[in-house]
Amino acid sequence: MSKLNMLYEGKAKKVYKTEKENEYIVEYKDDATALNGLKKGTISDKGIVNNKLSAIIFKILEEKGIETHLIELLNDRETLVKAVEILPLEVIVRNIAAGSISKRLGIEEGTVLKKPLLELCYKNDELGDPFISEDHIEILNLATPKEVEIVKENALKINEVLIEFFKGINLKLVDFKIEFGRYDGRVILADEISPDTCRLWDVNTNKKMDKDRFRRDLGDAESTYQEVLKRASK
Ligand code: C5P
Repeated sequence: MSKLNMLYEGKAKKVYKTEKENEYIVEYKDDATALNGLKKGTISDKGIVNNKLSAIIFKILEEKGIETHLIELLNDRETLVKAVEILPLEVIVRNIAAGSISKRLGIEEGTVLKKPLLELCYKNDELGDPFISEDHIEILNLATPKEVEIVKENALKINEVLIEFFKGINLKLVDFKIEFGRYDGRVILADEISPDTCRLWDVNTNKKMDKDRFRRDLGDAESTYQEVLKRASK
């Protein structure tokens, strides 16, 4: 399968058409952004880590009965995926308070939440991905109420699978962001699951093993990303 014209270039990935109408190739880049694009940089070989790790995780989710866009990992930086139409929603699930929820609601970082907390945001860079309600989603025609139901149910299932997976490699799943897409009349998991889109803390030391190393200038971003992939590959 080879890449045809580029359909879309995002902050961390490029998406290409292929000879098949219903298949795309995603190429992962090393570019890193934070603060809604205001902070820019690169994390060497991040694209390789995120590509491989997403494929590992999506395969596990498939085994647990959750349909994803994954078809197959093609090489270090590219994956063949189902050609979904991305829903303009960022679905965030939190187990432990950190990041924007700590800032917004004054919950101390590290506080274990009494149940997983699901948040929906409008995927729109110009607006800064604002928090939205299900009524906003319906009124703006971003997704149907039925689609939102599927998204919410799957996000919580995915959280359970991911908590177990990361626990097995000595990482606490603090929170994560996922995206879904329409494909052949269904709503399936798309985009990526990686240290760019999850907060992961080492179980023993609480070391931040994710993009917060870049966002907060904590250093060691490259080697930390490699360490997460190494643990996940065992
Ligand atoms: O910044 P905030 O605390 O809301 O992020 C929650 C989770 O969602 C974090 O794991 C973060 O990496 C992820 N996220 C993302 N892309 C965004 C916003 C948040 O991957 N645009």
